[in-house]
Amino acid sequence: MKKIFEINKTIKPFKKVIKVEGDKSLSIRWVLLASLSKKKSIAYNLLKSEDVLSALDCIKKLGSKVKFIKNRCEIIGTGFNYIIKKNLILNAGNSGTLGRLILGLLVNQNKKIKLIGDKSLSKRDFSRVINPLKKFGAKFKSKKNKLPLVIEGLESPKSINYIENRGSAQCKTSVIFAALKTNGTSTIKAKQSRNHSELLLKYLKIPIKIKKSKNYDLIKVKGINKIQNLNYKIPGDISSCAFFIVLTILTKNSRILIKNININPSRIGMIKILKKMGASINMVNKKNYKGEKIADLVVKSSQNLKGINCPSKLNASAIDEFLVIFLVAAKAKGVSTFKNLSELNHKESPRLIWGSKILRLMGIKTKVTSSSIKIYGNPNISVKKNIIVKNYLKDHRVFMMSAIAALTFGGKWKISDLDSIKTSFPTFLKILKNIDYNSH
Ligand code: S3P
Repeated sequence: MKKIFEINKTIKPFKKVIKVEGDKSLSIRWVLLASLSKKKSIAYNLLKSEDVLSALDCIKKLGSKVKFIKNRCEIIGTGFNYIIKKNLILNAGNSGTLGRLILGLLVNQNKKIKLIGDKSLSKRDFSRVINPLKKFGAKFKSKKNKLPLVIEGLESPKSINYIENRGSAQCKTSVIFAALKTNGTSTIKAKQSRNHSELLLKYLKIPIKIKKSKNYDLIKVKGINKIQNLNYKIPGDISSCAFFIVLTILTKNSRILIKNININPSRIGMIKILKKMGASINMVNKKNYKGEKIADLVVKSSQNLKGINCPSKLNASAIDEFLVIFLVAAKAKGVSTFKNLSELNHKESPRLIWGSKILRLMGIKTKVTSSSIKIYGNPNISVKKNIIVKNYLKDHRVFMMSAIAALTFGGKWKISDLDSIKTSFPTFLKILKNIDYNSH
């Protein structure tokens, strides 16, 4: 059912403490790594969103056992060789991360496995992982490198050398996971992107070596044949916080404290960008946890926001947050420019296009190309129009960006496909309600 979310009032000033759900990248990686260990792995605060449930469903089909006891998830995996039934079909749902990472783990399975996904995922490019995984020796059948596809791996995949140039953590991780299943050492020169997989593998004492240079990491991964179990408490997702950070920045006399958030340096580009624009965001109570960094975030309403010429070197570390960053640019004084962002059009929906569309619906001038956007900010913006957001391929982040825009800029909004939030942030609306919004 296409549930429509209607908002026709802006939010009142608030002072709140909130928690967001577990990090999606870490949740999916934990599920996949746990599936490789024969011993029981336990996670607390695993994100229970559709993307992560799809990951659990996939590993169950590959022979793992999964159990939930309240906030605790237990997985007993199969070890490095999955149990592959005839005509096995794995469904990655909406998740590019799951689809791409799991293919890496299938390079050593010498049976045909079909991978499918939903309408949005079936429009996305898989050549970015098919090409490197073919170098390991895996065979693929697909139409135009899209889902549905069939992978057929081989018992002894070859180690490879590979250059990952997009700054895509999905591609990098898919290759790292495949490299684990070889008999040799693979070398990956990867443009810097989120490094959760590398940190988890290091924590598991898997032979992975990383040499950092200015923009690239040189990663050497040695093949292995077993891993130990992984117990983990998943910290909150900075990409989910992003919506509440921007809600607070754009609402007068407001303050929010968001507890226990993963602040891995490869994920906090948004905080750096918004601070440069004049936002008040502080990370307090910093801690280390199993290789990751965690903190509480304190955010205050921010007046006098200014436009930014966004340094492209921050793109990868803010890649999932640009839609809400664009909302701040809409309210800032001056023109903001974001360049070298063609990757944004390879997400659940073409987000450069959708970001620009929503700003234009609000009356903000934008100039958009296939890889950049210019936003002509208006600090006095107040939307009075009726705005309808639909047919956006149910991109969860387009939905949540629109809700935040409605609550901060005004107007009468009808946003379709309320269910889209289930992909990454099922409690988004519950948290909004707790902050006491005044819609309807
Ligand atoms: C992710 C990597 C990013 C990001 C996605 C999650 C991951 O994609 O957009 O939401 O968990 O590795 P790319 O690596 O393709 O940029």
